Amino acid sequence: GPALFSPRANSRGWDLTDTAELQALETARIPYAEAPFDAAPRLAGRVVGGPQLAVLNPATGALVGHVTTAGLPDVDTALRLAEPWAAAAPERAEVLNRAADRMEADAGRIFAVLAREAGKTLPDAVAELREAVDFLRYYASQTAQPHPARGVFACISPWNFPLAIFCGQIGAALAAGNAVLAKPAEQTPLIATLAVDHLLAAGVPATALQLLPGDGTVGAALTRDPRVNGVAFTGSTETAQAIRRSMADHLDPTAPLIAETGGLNAMLVDSTALPEQAVRDVIASSFQSAGQRCSALRCLYVQEDVAENVTEMLFGAMEDLALGDPWALATDIGPVIDAEAQAGIRAYVDAARAEGRVLKELAAPAQGTFIAPTVLSVNGIQDMPREIFGPVLHIATFKAPDIDKVIQAINATGYGLTFGLHSRIDDRVQSIVEGLTVGNTYVNRNQIGAVVGSQPFGGEGLSGTGPKAGGPHYLARFTLPPVPAADP
Ligand code: NAD
Ligand code: ALA
Repeated sequence: GPALFSPRANSRGWDLTDTAELQALETARIPYAEAPFDAAPRLAGRVVGGPQLAVLNPATGALVGHVTTAGLPDVDTALRLAEPWAAAAPERAEVLNRAADRMEADAGRIFAVLAREAGKTLPDAVAELREAVDFLRYYASQTAQPHPARGVFACISPWNFPLAIFCGQIGAALAAGNAVLAKPAEQTPLIATLAVDHLLAAGVPATALQLLPGDGTVGAALTRDPRVNGVAFTGSTETAQAIRRSMADHLDPTAPLIAETGGLNAMLVDSTALPEQAVRDVIASSFQSAGQRCSALRCLYVQEDVAENVTEMLFGAMEDLALGDPWALATDIGPVIDAEAQAGIRAYVDAARAEGRVLKELAAPAQGTFIAPTVLSVNGIQDMPREIFGPVLHIATFKAPDIDKVIQAINATGYGLTFGLHSRIDDRVQSIVEGLTVGNTYVNRNQIGAVVGSQPFGGEGLSGTGPKAGGPHYLARFTLPPVPAADP
């Protein structure tokens, strides 16, 4: 039979240190700096539509466009008309690769929408488009699965990677030959519509890929419908638990829920770490993308002997971070996604301030939904109530003999997404890595930005069901299990 994986390469991306390339990108996105964008359901039948809503730029409050949400009749239409993608595996691969090529060629427009709708800086937008096309090509290279598609997949995605994760789920479900009903996050329907239009234009049949913009009620209508044969979900742990309950009531018990959820991610820096390197990696891990990555560092453990030095360097380095409109090339950190997110994070920081636990806080622009990068003191990860999805870092110290207790506390949170370790003691690195129950551990580097195909990404426990996205086992979950051999 054909090889299971055909050859492929990750996107080369865009080199923002190359002046000519940067200039070309700037020129490509300028036509979309003010242009209005629209989002609406993409159905294989007539759209009824729910409420029309405005989409606002979180950094400026300016109108970016409008979304016509899907009404419950549209969910029914989509389910009625959904047909698994019958094309042969090589054709599915060709179409997905073509969609990836189209998206790369449309980079200027995509970067503009990512900045204006989702608050993405240019480096973040570049990484996001890269990851999106890498996912499409990676799953395209695996369409020759040994088992058939399951049928109809609901793909429910978050706003923080509104292109990469959106395309990753859809790409996998389509590569396996399923029909997809895509439900993007309510905050980011514009980029989702753009991506779906590229996939349809590349040749995905309208019955195999339908788009249902809307809030959680649209997602819930999908996950409780028995015509759905599987759910791919990325978002909060609480929503994943609600989806599991709803599936248990209504769906075939063999229908899979592939859930990638939240984390309470830690990093440990011991006294042998190179402080300059550790500080750079702490900044990237906790503040890049305004801390709105599931992989982001939330709790930094620094060995007591070096804590003063490391925190002093960290606070100094934070002063260099520029907050502002993500459209500007000088901006390091954009806004958080919306006013609701901002209010929730502010309330959390205010409560910590009342307890005298704010160690460092930058200033945030007055306009727009910004949260200034903030560092809070904490005794340990056991005192952190939940994932705070923004640029808020907690710092604890530890003594060398207590490392095992720290690892136990991290495991005891029940989450297990990413972990960072800065140490130059090989035995220590090995024993810590063995003792942890987390999905992705990074040693002597930052802990964000897993690369498709090389660093399969996904968590343990409350952080996800597996299999890891961008890894060799992911696609099989979108197909039926092997038929067991008959009893002898
Ligand atoms: P969320 O759970 O609020 O929403 C995610 C999606 O679920 C949205 O499309 C939403 O409309 C939908 N939804 C909400 N209620 C639903 C319901 N009852 N039934 C079906 N669908 C429903 O998450 P979010 O705020 O968009 O994203 C941030 C969260 O995502 C964070 O917790 C973050 O850690 C997590 N995340 C995890 C990963 C990962 O790979 N592990 C990646 C990115 C984000
Ligand atoms: N894959 C994303 C990261 O690793 C979530 O940061």
